Amino acid sequence: MRLSPARSIIGQLRLPGDKSISHRAALIAALARDNSEISNFSTARDCASTLTCLRSLGVSIEQRDDKIVFAGNQKLLAPREPLDCGNSGSTLRILAGLLAGHDFSAEMVGDESLSSRPMRRIIEPLELMGAKIESTNGKAPLKVHGARTPTPISYKLPVASAQVKSAILFAGLNAQGRTTVIETTQSRDHTERLFRGFGVEVTSEASSTEGRPQSAAPTVGSETSISIEGPARFRGGPMTIPGDVSSAAYFVAAAMLLAGSQLTIEGVGLNPTRAAFLSVLNSWGADVSTADEQTERNEPYGTVNVRGGLTKNAGETERTLEATMIPSLIDELPLLAVVGSQIDGGIRIRDARELRLKESDRLAATATNLRAMGAEVEEFADGLSVSGPTQLQGALLDSHGDHRIAMAFAVAALLANGETEISGAECVSISFPEFFPLLESLTRR
Ligand code: S3P
Repeated sequence: MRLSPARSIIGQLRLPGDKSISHRAALIAALARDNSEISNFSTARDCASTLTCLRSLGVSIEQRDDKIVFAGNQKLLAPREPLDCGNSGSTLRILAGLLAGHDFSAEMVGDESLSSRPMRRIIEPLELMGAKIESTNGKAPLKVHGARTPTPISYKLPVASAQVKSAILFAGLNAQGRTTVIETTQSRDHTERLFRGFGVEVTSEASSTEGRPQSAAPTVGSETSISIEGPARFRGGPMTIPGDVSSAAYFVAAAMLLAGSQLTIEGVGLNPTRAAFLSVLNSWGADVSTADEQTERNEPYGTVNVRGGLTKNAGETERTLEATMIPSLIDELPLLAVVGSQIDGGIRIRDARELRLKESDRLAATATNLRAMGAEVEEFADGLSVSGPTQLQGALLDSHGDHRIAMAFAVAALLANGETEISGAECVSISFPEFFPLLESLTRR
């Protein structure tokens, strides 16, 4: 993909449904008592992987007009072929949880990137619940032998991961009794909100450190216990998925950095465990506001307005993103590193070791590409320090097969002097197939 510099971003748009919410809505609809109709389902290839796996499990799913329709009261069946999760960590990890509570065996496979990502984080708690999971050194392919009746557990997450939390909660649906996940740092809470939205009670309370959680995670600050009482069953019904706020982030950042921009994104998810980058950008001097907030099955959504140019100089000290801020910014960190290269004092990201375990090593990929564009970057085991402001130069970049790297550097390309070429940019279809045409239609040169 070749990109040339831009003057501004102008437009009003709506985005395809949120990827994280779409995965969960599909899994819930597959298990629900009643029929479900999902509108604005994500167009991401990752979410297509979730639907493919569910179909292989015998779930009847139809596309009717612009809706995905799930028949109610279905029974999952042992798949005849391996479940192909493609590039999608959420599909593999959360679906493995669901399967851990079903009394049959299933093989789960993924592409090269997914097969290199750590799976012990789900294997440990799901085996404590009675499933048996074969792996290759803790990596996919996985063979999940589900438990007839999963054992309820109380489990403290050793890493802040919504995928692991969700895997345990989906397994807990078929357990006899209370399954509890203890979080020391809050991760995205779509599973909790949608469980409640579809009729399965989830309690969430600040927990004491007493009791016997079944893993030895360090305690950082406060803890929250998230519990469900099994066995439990979802009601089905209609849902419109809010627009994907992580997809919106690229347009918001580009508009903020190009003076004269004017951008409105309607119907976009505003869940605080996902939309934290909006307040971070404001604290860095952006003019970003939200309006018309509503909810859908407990998920907040609304309008995001951006006016280009930094309205205030946020000072010259280096800004740091770290500790408990990280999980709610996790997918936006490569983009925030690009933004950091444009603001006085630059930025610093720490406590983000998890970024090395995503679709690519996102710390290394971000550092390499920023340096290729002329930015000064220091790389740590758990983060980056980016100097700013720097006039970026057009360069030859590599997406590293990672959709979020490709999109973050498409934004960088708009700010650069001269042309930028991003190889492997087609990987944006993993989360946002419409990205490049949409970006082009909003860009003024
Ligand atoms: C996701 C959770 C995050 C995120 C990923 C999607 C989810 O990963 O990076 O893109 O849908 O639950 P972790 O659960 O590994 O933090």
